[in-house]
Amino acid sequence: MSTDAVTNVSNATASHKEWVAKKIHSFVGVVPLGVYLVLHLTRNVSSLAGPEAFDSAVRTTWTHPINYLWVALLVYLPLAFHSVYGVMLMLESEKTNVFKHFNLENVRYFFQRLSGLGVLGFLFAHIFLTRIHVSMGWLQDATTNPDGQVTYNYFATHMTDWSKGTAIVYGFGVLGTVYHLANGLSTFCISWGITTGQKAIKTAEIAALVFGLLMLVLGYATIVGFFMYDFKEFVTPHGPLSPTGILGPLMHYK
Ligand code: HEM
Repeated sequence: MSTDAVTNVSNATASHKEWVAKKIHSFVGVVPLGVYLVLHLTRNVSSLAGPEAFDSAVRTTWTHPINYLWVALLVYLPLAFHSVYGVMLMLESEKTNVFKHFNLENVRYFFQRLSGLGVLGFLFAHIFLTRIHVSMGWLQDATTNPDGQVTYNYFATHMTDWSKGTAIVYGFGVLGTVYHLANGLSTFCISWGITTGQKAIKTAEIAALVFGLLMLVLGYATIVGFFMYDFKEFVTPHGPLSPTGILGPLMHYK
């Protein structure tokens, strides 16, 4: 085979691999991660029904040990791939320079990447406050929280103290996640050949917008739920957020 033919074959293999990687990237963003988010926010909106309802909803999720396997395979694994590949695409893309090529498609693309980065930052904080705290046993206390799970009191203590900024961070976290998912949903439909032709693309965009607004209502209702009921201040018993922990002074425990 001539050198040119070898180069052509290896270029075709590389672009086929890239095509497959892009398809998987878009698929995992919508199927395991999007479905997880819908289930997650639907469960969390139980905060509107008060502390017992929220705590029981969270506890119920973790009564089946298989849930840990589900979350590892259907959340953390796809999340790792989607984030790393997403950042790689962003660094390669010309369209990220929205000021050079200003049109609606590029503005949406720009916010898709910006929200992706924001969601990544939000998730570091959120997973630290929830999964890491629970797994390390930092929330466990024989009298106040024997299960060691995240509770209504824990969220309400963080959210209602404006000086901690938690409610603002969650407000932006929900907004960024919902935009990223809803906008991603309409591009997923194009990428997977579900919508072909301008009319179908427009219809999918409207459906994605309606879906996004519903998710936004769910997310914000969850946050509002933490302001609606009396709660006992939750003093994190162990770890960095405890009164003697390295981040303890930021918590302003009374
Ligand atoms: C609106 C307020 C939210 C509340 C009250 C909330 C609540 C929780 C709780 C209690 C956990 C601990 C594990 C569990 O029981 O599920 C958790 C984990 C998690 N949340 Fe959220 N969440 C919120 C928003 C979000 C958003 C917007 C996202 C998406 C970016 C998200 C993604 C995750 C992930 C990936 C985990 C770790 C999964 C695990 O290890 O179990 N959450 N969240």
